[in-house]
Amino acid sequence: MANYLVTGGAGFIGSNFVHQVLGTTGHSVTVLDALTYAGNRASLEGLPVDRFSFVQGDIADPDVVNDLVAAADVVVHFAAESHNDNSLRDPSPFIRTNLVGTFTLLEAARHHEVRYHHISTDEVYGDLELDDPGKFTPETAYRPSSPYSASKAGSDHLVRAWVRSFGLEATLSNCSNNYGPYQHVEKFIPRQITNILDGGRPKLYGAGLNVRDWIHVEDHNSAVLQIIEHGRIGETYLIGADGERNNKTVIEAILSLMGQEPDAYDHVNDRPGHDLRYAIDASKLREELGWTPRYRDFESGLAATIQWYRANESWWRPQKAAVEAAYAAQGQ
Ligand code: NAD
Ligand code: DAU
Repeated sequence: MANYLVTGGAGFIGSNFVHQVLGTTGHSVTVLDALTYAGNRASLEGLPVDRFSFVQGDIADPDVVNDLVAAADVVVHFAAESHNDNSLRDPSPFIRTNLVGTFTLLEAARHHEVRYHHISTDEVYGDLELDDPGKFTPETAYRPSSPYSASKAGSDHLVRAWVRSFGLEATLSNCSNNYGPYQHVEKFIPRQITNILDGGRPKLYGAGLNVRDWIHVEDHNSAVLQIIEHGRIGETYLIGADGERNNKTVIEAILSLMGQEPDAYDHVNDRPGHDLRYAIDASKLREELGWTPRYRDFESGLAATIQWYRANESWWRPQKAAVEAAYAAQGQ
């Protein structure tokens, strides 16, 4: 049984990962999380006390990171500033956490010779045209568009350099858009669900033709576990579940599932530099590691997610007003 150090384990994907690891394996987990606005201790309730511990701290602080990495068998690095719109308002925390934080973890993993898995995003590849039949592959050239995606691209390059120059035992994964429980209300799907629950209307950027490739967070995390256990060192695996939808279609689906008219939404200001389309070719992951997604029907995964936000208002309510105020200030 292994000791996992999970950075960013109080965030959306990290907290789901911790629940999955502790629920499906005998491994132990230590979470290192700074509890920024995006981290929520309540996402980590009900975990087995004998195999779970929590440390509040900054991944860019070498004193905190060193001891925790030394005690771990595997570092799984989820912690990041993760929201594109925030990176357009103020890029500075993205540089510190996503670049300096990753560097700090890599140095500790190198010195203590600890296995490292790096969580990244399909946004490092920039975007595809709407009518392009192609998808991102591990060979696609990096072409990030936003401060967020550029900082994630930089962090990926650091990991590959530490593998090649220092022999770090690392793997990387780049995943498409996740949805599911514990996602912050600043993100597209939870924002629209909670707007409707609040008696308001969904907000669609621009014409809403931008395409995202949706995957349920449990499927992302089952792939991460598979890569940690069976992936080849130094390799990059793309994670996706063939879930392409444009934003307008997703908002209409949410409205219908919540018993509203499908056109009961507002068009708001578009995101500057808004990427058009993401699409993942996950054949390397499927063929080499035999991974398959469990959530094959987006609409039923969405219905379960809506149900989760209905049942967990106390989890999202404290963040909602501030998020909407920040969007309103930008006409979004
Ligand atoms: P999130 O914003 O929900 O959570 C990020 C977590 O990191 C929070 O708990 C926060 O407190 C913590 N954190 C931030 N700065 C920190 C610091 N300096 N030190 C320690 N902890 C810090 O993010 P998410 O959506 O769960 O994304 C997790 C990872 O997955 C990120 O690396 C992101 O780039 C990647 N990713 C996300 C998606 C998606 O759809 N959300 C898709 C692909 C990849
Ligand atoms: O592709 C993976 C990425 O997916 C991750 O790396 C990021 O961490 C994650 O935030 C997500 O990035 P996006 O920018 O694609 O996600 P977001 O939820 O912010 O927006 C999804 C789409 O919906 C995008 O085209 C913008 C649009 N949108 C977003 C919001 C918040 C709207 O139309 N209305 C909204 O209110």
